[in-house]
Amino acid sequence: MTTDAHRTAIVTGGARGIGAAIAARLAEDGLAVAVLDLDDAAAKATTDAIGAAGGRALPVPVNVADAESVRTAVERVAAELGPPTVLVNNAGVTRDNLLFRLTEDDWDTVMSVHLRGAFLMSRAAQKYMVEAGFGRIVSLSSTSALGNRGQANYAAAKAGIQGFTKTVALELGKFGITANAIAPGFIETEMTRATAQRLGLSFEQYKLDRAAEIPVGRVGQPADIAHLASFLVSEGAGFVSGQVIYAAGGPKT
Ligand code: NAI
Repeated sequence: MTTDAHRTAIVTGGARGIGAAIAARLAEDGLAVAVLDLDDAAAKATTDAIGAAGGRALPVPVNVADAESVRTAVERVAAELGPPTVLVNNAGVTRDNLLFRLTEDDWDTVMSVHLRGAFLMSRAAQKYMVEAGFGRIVSLSSTSALGNRGQANYAAAKAGIQGFTKTVALELGKFGITANAIAPGFIETEMTRATAQRLGLSFEQYKLDRAAEIPVGRVGQPADIAHLASFLVSEGAGFVSGQVIYAAGGPKT
C-alpha cells in the first residue's frame, strides 16, 4: 500500500461531471474522498457509487463561495475522514453573455464560485497540509482563460485561477505542498450541454462541431481530466508545482 492510500482528498463540485470523475478516480487510487457540493442529493449518489465500487467517500454540503460554509465543511471532513491533504478546486458555474449584456450578478456569481471559492477552500485546507508537511492543491482553470467569446466573466475567473495557483505554489512549497492548475478544453458534461442549448444547437451536433476543431479528433471526457488530476496529486509529482497544464486534445482549443 502506498502512502497515498492513507490520504484524504476533497473534491469540490464533485457531485457530477469532471468533479465526480476525479472523486471516483482518487478513490480508486486509494484515497478517502470527500465530495463537497451545493447539490447534496447528487453528491450522495456519487459517494454511494464510489462506496459500491469499494472506495471510501463522504458527501458534505458546501457553498464554496461562503466562508462559514467552507469552514464547517472542511472541519467536518477532517473529523470524519481525516485531515485533508489533497484539495481539488473544481466547483464551477457559467453565466455566459456578451459584454454589453453581462449583468453585475453574472459577473459576481462567476467570480464568487471560481475565485472566492478556490481562495476560501485553499485557505481552509492548507492548515492541515502544513501540519502534515504534505499537500496537493489542484484547481480547474480552462482554455477559456485565453479568451472566449461570451465569457468575459468566466475567462477572467479562469485566468485568475492561474495567478492564484502560481502564488500558492510560491508560498506553500516549503511545506511540501504543490499547487497546479488544469486547463481543460471541451469536456462532455452538463456544463457544455447547457452551452449547446444556449447556442440553440443539439448537444450531438455541438460535440461534432467541436471535435472537428480538436487535433485528436474527439471531445474530452471527464475521465481525461481525472487521469491528470490523479497524477498531479500523487506522491511522485512533488517537483511539479505552479504549472498550468492544458488538457485540450491539442495545443489550443
Ligand atoms: P458541472 O456543471 O457538470 O458541475 C459543476 C459542479 O459544481 C456541480 O455539481 C455543481 O453543483 C457544483 N457547484 C456549483 N456551484 C457550487 C458552489 N457554489 N459550491 C459548491 N459546489 C458548486 O461542470 P463541469 O463541466 O464538470 O466543470 C467542472 C469544472 O471544470 C468547473 O470549474 C468548470 O469551469 C471547469 N471546466 C469545464 C470544462 C468543460 O468543458 N466542461 C472546460 C474547462 C473547465
